[in-house]
Amino acid sequence: MTDSYIFAANLDDVKPGKMFRVKLEGKLLLLANVEGTIHACDEMCTHEEVSLALGALQGNCIKCSLHGSRFDLLTGKPLDEPADEDLRIYPVKIEANTILVNIN
Ligand code: FES
Repeated sequence: MTDSYIFAANLDDVKPGKMFRVKLEGKLLLLANVEGTIHACDEMCTHEEVSLALGALQGNCIKCSLHGSRFDLLTGKPLDEPADEDLRIYPVKIEANTILVNIN
């Protein structure tokens, strides 16, 4: 199996408790730092076309600013209505001071 992790950002770009938007191969993703663990997910809410970058991190969840659905950053599952579709989560690897994401 080929290693398809690609460079997404420097670790210093994503501060604890913050989100950081990146474009990887034409796809917008959000990187989120939850107490030192980096998560990667699609940038767009699955309910409507709203950037989750406008939302807030709450523990292991990202909360959409428009209707308040929270998505679990480990599973992508929506925890509240109205969103009912999973948010896509991407595998992340940290090497040296860089964040690598597998978007395949
Ligand atoms: S647009 Fe995100 S919950 Fe409705």
